[in-house]
Amino acid sequence: MPLQNTNPTTAKAWTKLEEHFSSIKETTLKDLFRKDPKRAEKFTLNWEDFLVDFSKNRISKETIDLLVELANELELKDAINKYFTGDVINETEGRAVLHTALRAKKEDTVLVNGKNIIPEVYEVKEHIKEFTSTIISGEAKGYTGKSFTDVVNIGIGGSDLGPAMVTEALKFYKNHLKLHFVSNVDGDHVREVLRDLNPETTLFVIVSKTFTTQETLSNATTIKKWFLNHATQEDIAKHFAAVSTNAEKIAEFGISSDNVFPMWDWVGGRFSLWSAVGLSIALAVGYDNFDALLQGANEMDEHFKNEDFDKNIPVVLALLSVWYNNFYGAETETIIPYTQYLSRFSAYLQQGIMESNGKSVDRNGITTKYQTGTIIWGEPGTNSQHAFFQLIHQGTKLIPADFIGFKESLYGETDHHNKLMANFFAQTEALMNGKTKEQVDSELKAKNVSEKEMEKLSPFKVFQGNKPTNTLLIDKLTPKSLGALIAMYEHKIFVQGVIWNIFSYDQWGVELGKQLAGTILKDIEGSEIANHDTSTLQLLQEFKK
Ligand code: F6P
Repeated sequence: MPLQNTNPTTAKAWTKLEEHFSSIKETTLKDLFRKDPKRAEKFTLNWEDFLVDFSKNRISKETIDLLVELANELELKDAINKYFTGDVINETEGRAVLHTALRAKKEDTVLVNGKNIIPEVYEVKEHIKEFTSTIISGEAKGYTGKSFTDVVNIGIGGSDLGPAMVTEALKFYKNHLKLHFVSNVDGDHVREVLRDLNPETTLFVIVSKTFTTQETLSNATTIKKWFLNHATQEDIAKHFAAVSTNAEKIAEFGISSDNVFPMWDWVGGRFSLWSAVGLSIALAVGYDNFDALLQGANEMDEHFKNEDFDKNIPVVLALLSVWYNNFYGAETETIIPYTQYLSRFSAYLQQGIMESNGKSVDRNGITTKYQTGTIIWGEPGTNSQHAFFQLIHQGTKLIPADFIGFKESLYGETDHHNKLMANFFAQTEALMNGKTKEQVDSELKAKNVSEKEMEKLSPFKVFQGNKPTNTLLIDKLTPKSLGALIAMYEHKIFVQGVIWNIFSYDQWGVELGKQLAGTILKDIEGSEIANHDTSTLQLLQEFKK
């Protein structure tokens, strides 16, 4: 059964939210906190080792009630049920969306075309376990009898970002294997990676759901050629593994069937790190840690499926984001993890969020008259404080922010961790409170600044404040908490797609550029240049000179 199909702006709750917005929009965060001493407590969710404080948002209880009313009116509960049970909710590609099945429990049943897919999921997990343990233990040997020291993940988009982000995030839990990622079709990328590698001790994992992606096939072919300069065709069986839905193309590439890991069309690329696409993760941190990542995600799935909407972390975060996007007109959201381990987190979420909800046509094929997917960006704190925070504090744009921090540091560097977390708490407080003219003036007075100079300087030193933030405080960065965190954002994406009445699980928008690149490659490699606009023509002529 398809998902409901309602223009959200026609919902009764939407009209109520518009009216409510007019009445609340001038109220500041400081006012809201002043009026209610219990505000922090009321707008905090505690779940497992997560604390989500969303009190520093421009909302009242009525806002949340109305947003939940909107979710109910748009049949979110039914949509969640369809999402988890394998309905064909990716209608434009005719597929179910079941990345949640990849982390389901062994005893669960999830049907696709009448067949329970969980046994197959567990078969592949078993294969991942066996394969990775022989590589990690050194039992598997390369073509000269040496154990493996390096692993190269060859893939792009979801076949790169998830494994790259997670292996960086879980670096603390890593074993001796050195991980490398080749994604860009830029030949300098692959060459830089190959430069330091020894073919005798390197394992190559080709990851491509379709096995037709230009970047991945070009990189895999270049790497294969490089490898064959040192070894023989038969040695490929020992050194190459592949993850794909396209068994035929893998066989053509010459990869041994023992090293082939299937994928399924009901897993979208950007949600695939839980499948064998995560092979590099399991190689880097071992199967048990990979499995713990899946368990964390599964626990978040259960929370999302079962919890009431006003206490449901992904639902609340999604609705708050709708509030700012559609009522306040905020265009972007930033995600600031206070751990260097999550340095690739925003890049990863950019694909998840923007490839999913970057749509301007609703489920009827009609151009939406309301805003949909937000622009996502971010970098870890404290580095980002010294880069773009100026604009968040004093720029003209409203930028809701998620701050993610951990109570414990992994190496136990207490002094550093206290400083890191002092910054973490200080920023959300500063973003909310800002600094008034009175505060600025009294600070300047204390420094014996003249009245005249004070008048001149104070406008630049005033911070308006009233900038909304969510604070996610998690006990510790572990494979499990990371799994839950990623799943939390996955479900936020889903909820927003339901509210905006768009198809979140296709990505037709990336096709046009791919097609044109194919045509232009012929122009570059051939003797003639086909018809183009004068700008493109001029650029091509210059390039071919
Ligand atoms: O960028 C489009 C896209 O299809 C992504 O959705 C996907 O993650 C990426 O390309 C790579 O695709 P594949 O895994 O099929 O090589």
